Amino acid sequence: MTLAETDFTFVTGMIRQRSSIDLQPGKEYLVESRLAPVARKFGDKDVAALVLRLRRNDREACEAVVDALTTNETSWFRDAHPFEAFTGLMLPEVKRTGGPTVNIWSAASSSGQEAYSLALLLIDWLPMNPGRTAMIHGTDISPTMVARATAGKYSQLEINRGLPVKYLVRCFDQVGRDWIVKPEIRALTSFRQGNLAQPPVGLPQMDIVFLRNVLIYFDLPTKRQVLANVRKVLRPGGFLVLGGAESTLSLDENFARVETDKVVIFRNGGGT
Ligand SMILES: C[S@@+](CC[C@H](N)C(=O)[O-])C[C@H]1O[C@@H](n2cnc3c(N)ncnc32)[C@H](O)[C@@H]1O
Repeated sequence: MTLAETDFTFVTGMIRQRSSIDLQPGKEYLVESRLAPVARKFGDKDVAALVLRLRRNDREACEAVVDALTTNETSWFRDAHPFEAFTGLMLPEVKRTGGPTVNIWSAASSSGQEAYSLALLLIDWLPMNPGRTAMIHGTDISPTMVARATAGKYSQLEINRGLPVKYLVRCFDQVGRDWIVKPEIRALTSFRQGNLAQPPVGLPQMDIVFLRNVLIYFDLPTKRQVLANVRKVLRPGGFLVLGGAESTLSLDENFARVETDKVVIFRNGGGT
């Protein structure tokens, strides 16, 4: 691996500025291995040549590099317990206190498995709750991930990562070797590009926000900014679900902890 220190510093500075992702020294191997295919795509002989292109502010190359340096790891019903709390705790409370449409934000939705997992639970909940509708709003900084989530198309390998077979049979159509989420499930979702470090644009007031496994990529001031941005659209009393390794503790005192026996979630206390 040959990435020069100055090139690494340049790339990480650009990534921080465009996505707030914090790549510290020590991540040189990650950067170089993720950027090698991007260099090939642009016809550059190596990553150093690609960095020259970035230094010239080539817009397409800059976007492709941000895209390549996001970590998009996800799976169906990831960590299970937040989804149990979704049906067991959050939806009953939202039904009691919320409006006719349940709005859910899958913030950092990656390729869509989290948003569709929630939609799969809603297709059983909605008929039992006449007069209610629901919408899951997925956002991610990566245009590639937004396009993948919108398409709702998954390989067998991706399906095998946590999707219960009862949902595969009922809610997916097989197309060649892939599986596509049925239109009636897709109708409960919409996906768009968005940077969590910036104030949310065009999102309705949310009852529930799933913001999982993304705060870990940000430095402290950005974590605080992202949580403040979430509170701009999360209604007072609305629920926030973070990843297992994440918390609002020491970041934002406006969230109250709600502990169930298996998972900790957070509620917006309504401060400004
Ligand atoms: C590890 S995935 C988490 C996916 C899903 N929430 C889960 O827990 O399975 C992190 C996602 O955050 C997105 N991301 C990174 N920085 C972001 C930012 N500043 N704004 C929005 N999304 C971002 C990445 O593109 C990636 O898809």
